[in-house]
Amino acid sequence: MAYAAGVYSVTLILFITWLLMKAEIEVCKKGVVTVSPARTVLFGSTINISCSLKPKEGCSHPSNFQKLTFYQNRLRVHSQKSHLLTMQVSNLRLGTTVFVCKVSCGGHVESQVCGADISVGVTPEQPQNLSCSQLGEHGNVVCTWNKGRDTHLYTVHILQLTGPNNLDLEKQRAPYGDDLDLGISLSPASPEANYTAKVVASNSLGNSSSLPLVFSFMDIVKPLPPSDIRADFPNLSANLCTLQWQDQGPAVLNRLQFRPVHENAWKTVHITNSGGRYDLYNLKPFTEYEFQISSKLHSVKGRWSDWSKLLRTQTPKEEPVGMLDVWHMVDDLEGGLRNISLFWKNMSVSEARGNILRYQVTIREVTRNSSDVPHTLENFTSHTHFAVVLPQKDYAVAVSAVNSEGSSSPSWTFIPRQPREAPRNVLAKPQGTDGIRVTWEPPHGAATLVKEYLVEWRALGTGNSPSSPINWGRLPTVNMSTVISEHVRPHLCYQIRLCALWGDGAGCARTWADLTSKEPLTGPRVQNATAGKGTASVTWDEIPAQEQMGCLLHYKIYLQEPRSQSPSHIFEIPYEVANTSRLIRGLRPGVTYVLWMTASTAAGEGPRGNERELSLEE
Ligand SMILES: *[C@@H]1O[C@H](CO)[C@@H](O)[C@H](O)[C@H]1NC(C)=O
Ligand SMILES: *[C@@H]1O[C@H](CO)[C@@H](O)[C@H](O)[C@H]1NC(C)=O
Ligand SMILES: *[C@@H]1O[C@H](CO)[C@@H](O)[C@H](O)[C@H]1NC(C)=O
Ligand SMILES: *[C@@H]1O[C@H](CO)[C@@H](O)[C@H](O)[C@H]1NC(C)=O
Ligand SMILES: *[C@@H]1O[C@H](CO)[C@@H](O)[C@H](O)[C@H]1NC(C)=O
Ligand SMILES: *[C@@H]1O[C@H](CO)[C@@H](O)[C@H](O)[C@H]1NC(C)=O
Ligand SMILES: *[C@@H]1O[C@H](CO)[C@@H](O)[C@H](O)[C@H]1NC(C)=O
Ligand SMILES: *[C@@H]1O[C@H](CO)[C@@H](O)[C@H](O)[C@H]1NC(C)=O
Ligand SMILES: *[C@@H]1O[C@H](CO)[C@@H](O)[C@H](O)[C@H]1NC(C)=O
Ligand SMILES: *[C@@H]1O[C@H](CO)[C@@H](O)[C@H](O)[C@H]1NC(C)=O
Ligand SMILES: *[C@@H]1O[C@H](CO)[C@@H](O)[C@H](O)[C@H]1NC(C)=O
Ligand SMILES: *[C@@H]1O[C@H](CO)[C@@H](O)[C@H](O)[C@H]1NC(C)=O
Repeated sequence: MAYAAGVYSVTLILFITWLLMKAEIEVCKKGVVTVSPARTVLFGSTINISCSLKPKEGCSHPSNFQKLTFYQNRLRVHSQKSHLLTMQVSNLRLGTTVFVCKVSCGGHVESQVCGADISVGVTPEQPQNLSCSQLGEHGNVVCTWNKGRDTHLYTVHILQLTGPNNLDLEKQRAPYGDDLDLGISLSPASPEANYTAKVVASNSLGNSSSLPLVFSFMDIVKPLPPSDIRADFPNLSANLCTLQWQDQGPAVLNRLQFRPVHENAWKTVHITNSGGRYDLYNLKPFTEYEFQISSKLHSVKGRWSDWSKLLRTQTPKEEPVGMLDVWHMVDDLEGGLRNISLFWKNMSVSEARGNILRYQVTIREVTRNSSDVPHTLENFTSHTHFAVVLPQKDYAVAVSAVNSEGSSSPSWTFIPRQPREAPRNVLAKPQGTDGIRVTWEPPHGAATLVKEYLVEWRALGTGNSPSSPINWGRLPTVNMSTVISEHVRPHLCYQIRLCALWGDGAGCARTWADLTSKEPLTGPRVQNATAGKGTASVTWDEIPAQEQMGCLLHYKIYLQEPRSQSPSHIFEIPYEVANTSRLIRGLRPGVTYVLWMTASTAAGEGPRGNERELSLEE
């Protein structure tokens, strides 16, 4: 609508301008303007234009000289003291140029004699790419073509259609139309009957006609798009999808395109004589797909219909495939018990093939005595971890993922009472900002029996709660090093375990590393400092994890005598996880010391913690 309104207002302005110019030109009481060869000329032409006064219309006083002047688009271009003014004009621009002739007497005010508007344009080009189509059996024939360059002149396009039964039709295209509706429809009754169409473009400089276009109903009809498209899964599985739709007319060819909604590329199939039905095999389960269909009336000729409305549907769920990646940790407890913690990773959407509702955990005691009935524990969880306290025996554990359609194959792990041999010389060092590089050597013994290595890392100090993230990755046995780059942040200390996975259990070695460190933010808080004879027992609290700023390397205990300027004793204690007590010797009896502690990372020593008085016995 906005476009049409724009066209109309432009047309209106042009029309008013033309009227004003016309008014200027048509006042020709005093004389005439003649143009040769014509008032409409080909671009590049030269014209002669002359202005002459009618008898008795000259200046009244013969002593007054009279002067004629030509204006071209309101600019003075030529003038002469005469009855007759002639000039030759070339280089006229495309479009309309207005010439006005005026007279003045004795240098007084000019008055109008006459005017002429000259139209400069080109002949129409041959109309190109004429094409016609008919939408459905009952639609009208609509033709389009390319007009070619602008002629700058009023140019008429007329389409002529001839055909059987003496059909002879002529129709003119509206000035601003892009296509031409012939107002008739070809009949499917004689689908092969030939029609001929031709377009003639003409203006006052000439005419030009398109190549004739010969077509039949079959060639130009564009069927209406298929409707009522639907998809069924008769086996309730994504393996078989039956599509059905309604063709609008006697379609012999269909094309179907489909894709999962989040993919870009369509898959296309062509189907002949489908009867409105097609079976698709092996779609991905639990995936939203979109489908659309178009049709054609002839296997070779004719046009494709537009695509049908898009059908979106989700394929059915199926039982999960693949196996979970399961890892475990074992803590020995008092009383011959052990805490077995299992962890596993989420399945990918393509493996899960539905919403994972829960995980099934199976723990089976492994006995060598075949007459024993193995003790089996089964449980379900919706989390990706599970912990259980059991007597110290050999176990086989399995976890599988369960969706509404079934469960994945269980992934079995053997967890023996005794750990197997661990890799040697496990070292971890920061490698710039890329991550932490871990290197190791194979375990002693038959290292060729190692199936794979597993590197496990978790931030220290986040406690042993199951919600604290534990990360792991598996490596082939050719690898003797790896770089941990995911889920590591600066200024945190990571416990890294490198495990050799044998067929019948795992052996792990531990180390610690940080990506980068800073000095600790606080010092250790001394809990208790009790004095003996020349000795003292000190206990303290670990610095909270978020204040350690990296892996702690050592503590220092400072003892300073009253009124002294500097500490008299400094004890450096290598850091050990969970060791927060120390017995110190070699102190002077009877002295009262002030005691404090610091902690250090690779970046340096942190501030001192609280101060305590320590009075040694005499
Ligand atoms: C215009 O005038 C010139 C000289 O007066 C003449 O040679 C020429 O043929 C004229 N051209 C036309 C198109 O009348
Ligand atoms: C006419 O159609 C042909 C082929 O489709 C194309 O290459 C050409 O550019 C078209 N001509 C015009 C003027 O649009
Ligand atoms: C229409 O024209 C084609 C060739 O352009 C010709 O083979 C066919 O026989 C014609 N059809 C009829 C019905 O005349
Ligand atoms: C096109 O121009 C030619 C002369 O150039 C003329 O004989 C013919 O009648 C014109 N055709 C139309 C449709 O105007
Ligand atoms: C669908 O189910 C039928 C009958 O149960 C079976 O014969 C056919 O092989 C199944 N098709 C697929 C693709 O699974
Ligand atoms: C067993 O370990 C899990 C974490 O892996 C922990 O949450 C749980 O408290 C532990 N159970 C016992 C009895 O130590
Ligand atoms: C695993 O999947 C669950 C449910 O889809 C989601 O809540 C959880 O964040 C996922 N965990 C990871 C580590 O991707
Ligand atoms: C196997 O178990 C049975 C019954 O529990 C017991 O009598 C037998 O001694 C056991 N054998 C061995 C080799 O432990
Ligand atoms: C199964 O898990 C639930 C919840 O964790 C627990 O209450 C129950 O005791 C477990 N059953 C067995 C047999 O371990
Ligand atoms: C395993 O070793 C190969 C060759 O040294 C190396 O390209 C690859 O990155 C290593 N894999 C991992 C996970 O570190
Ligand atoms: C400090 O140690 C003494 C002696 O060992 C003990 O009696 C006292 O309870 C301890 N105090 C704290 C706060 O641990
Ligand atoms: C703490 O360290 C001291 C000295 O190195 C050692 O004797 C003691 O066994 C350690 N305690 C623990 C719980 O590791």
